[in-house]
Amino acid sequence: MKGLRDGPAVTAMNSREQQAEELLREFQEREQRIRSILETALDAVVTMNPAGQITGWNAEAERIFGWSRQEAVGRRMSDTIIPPQYREAHERGLQRFLHTGDGPLLNKRIEITAVHRTGREFPVELAISSAKIADAWTFSAFVRDISDRRQAEEAREEANRAKSEFLILQAADKLQQSLFNTVSHDLRTPLASVIGALSSVLEDGALLDALTQQKLLKTAQDEARRLNWLVQNLLDMTRLEGGAIRMKTQPCNVHDVVGAALRQLGEMAQSHPVSVTIAPNLPLVPMDHVLIVQVLVNVLDNALKYSPGETPVEIEAQTDADHLEIRILDRGRGIPEEELERVFDKFFRGASPGASKGTGLGLSICKGFVEAHNGRIVAKNRPHGGAEVAIFLPVKTSQSAMRTAGADH
Ligand SMILES: Nc1ncnc2c1ncn2[C@@H]1O[C@H](COP(=O)(O)OP(=O)(O)OP(=O)(O)O)[C@@H](O)[C@H]1O
Ligand SMILES: [Mg+2]
Repeated sequence: MKGLRDGPAVTAMNSREQQAEELLREFQEREQRIRSILETALDAVVTMNPAGQITGWNAEAERIFGWSRQEAVGRRMSDTIIPPQYREAHERGLQRFLHTGDGPLLNKRIEITAVHRTGREFPVELAISSAKIADAWTFSAFVRDISDRRQAEEAREEANRAKSEFLILQAADKLQQSLFNTVSHDLRTPLASVIGALSSVLEDGALLDALTQQKLLKTAQDEARRLNWLVQNLLDMTRLEGGAIRMKTQPCNVHDVVGAALRQLGEMAQSHPVSVTIAPNLPLVPMDHVLIVQVLVNVLDNALKYSPGETPVEIEAQTDADHLEIRILDRGRGIPEEELERVFDKFFRGASPGASKGTGLGLSICKGFVEAHNGRIVAKNRPHGGAEVAIFLPVKTSQSAMRTAGADH
C-alpha cells in the first residue's frame, strides 16, 4: 500500500528531486530554445572564451566565414575571422579587457573588415557583448555581412560623382556653346558689315556720290570699332576666367580715367549729352588705369545703349575717407527689379534688350575688374526713371594691390 511504503520524509525528498528535475528540464529546454534561436539567427553568432578560442558558431557563421562549426570551435578567433593586419590589436584588446575591464569596442555597433576562410576580406557590421558566467568571461559577437550594402553605397557614390561630373561638363559645355554662339554671331555680323561697306566703296566707288561713300566708310569704321571692343571683352573674360589678370596699380587722376573712357567710346558718346561732374581736389587714387577705363567704357556703353538719344547721361565722381565713388546715371528704361542682381552674371542679357546688340559680358567683366581692386560695383534704378551704376574703389592701396603693383599686363 502506498501509505505504508512511502513515509512523509520520502514524499518530501521525492518532491524535491522532482522539482530539481523539472528545473533542470526547464533550464535545458530554455538553453535549447536559445540555441535554436541563435542557430537560425540571420546574423552570424560567434562566441569566444577568455583564452580567445571560439566556443560557439552558428549556421550563418558557417555560411559567411566558410568554416564548419566543427572546424571553427576550439580555434583561436584571431586565426579564423580576423584579417591578419588586425590580429595583434584584437589579442591586445582582449588582454586589456581581462586586466582592466576596459573594452572600447564592446556593446556598440561597429563596421569592420572580416576575413573568409579563403582569405577574401569583406565588410561586416559587428556588435560584441561580454558576460560573466560562473566567474568566467564569455564574449558573443553578432556579425552581419554588409558587402551588399557597401556595394550599394559605393554605387550610389559613384552615381553621384558621375552626376556632378556630368553637371560640370554640361556647364562647361554651355559656356563653350555660348562663346561659340557669340563668336559666330556677334563677331561675324560686324565683320560682314565692314566687308560689305568696304566692298561697295571699292567696287562701285565710281557710281557712288561722295556723301554715300563717306557714310559707307563710317559704317565700316563703327562696326570695326565695335568688333575691336567685342574682341577686347572676350579677351578680358578669358583672362578673368583663367585668373590671369595682372594688375598694374598706380596712383591715377580720375579726370584722366574718365577722359580716356570717353575718348575710347568716340562717336558713340556723341549720341547723348554727356555731363561730367568730378568733385574738386580729388586725390590720386590707386588703380589699374587700363582696367578701370575698360570698366567705365562698358558701363557708359550700357547707359548710352539702353537710353533714348538726347536723354542725358551723367558721370559723377567723389571720394569719402575710404572710397572713390564713380556713378554713371542715365534716363533710359532702367533695369527690371528682378534683374538687378543678375545683370552682373556672365552672358546675362535683360529680357527686353530691344534692338541693342550685346553679349551679356560687359557688366560681368566690370565686376571682375572692380573686385580685383577690392572694390564693389552696384546697379540700381533712379527714383524718376533710368539706371544708376556705382563703382567704389578703395582710396588706399590694399595689400593685394601692393603685391601685384608693377606687374605687367
Ligand atoms: N543702363 C542700363 N539700363 C538698362 N538696362 C541695363 C543697363 N545696363 C545694363 N542693363 C541690362 O543688363 C544686361 C547686362 O548688361 P551687360 O553690359 O553685362 O551686357 P550687354 O550690354 O547686354 O552686352 P555687352 O555689354 O556684352 O555688349 C543688359 O542686357 C541689360 O538688360
Ligand atoms: Mg553692356
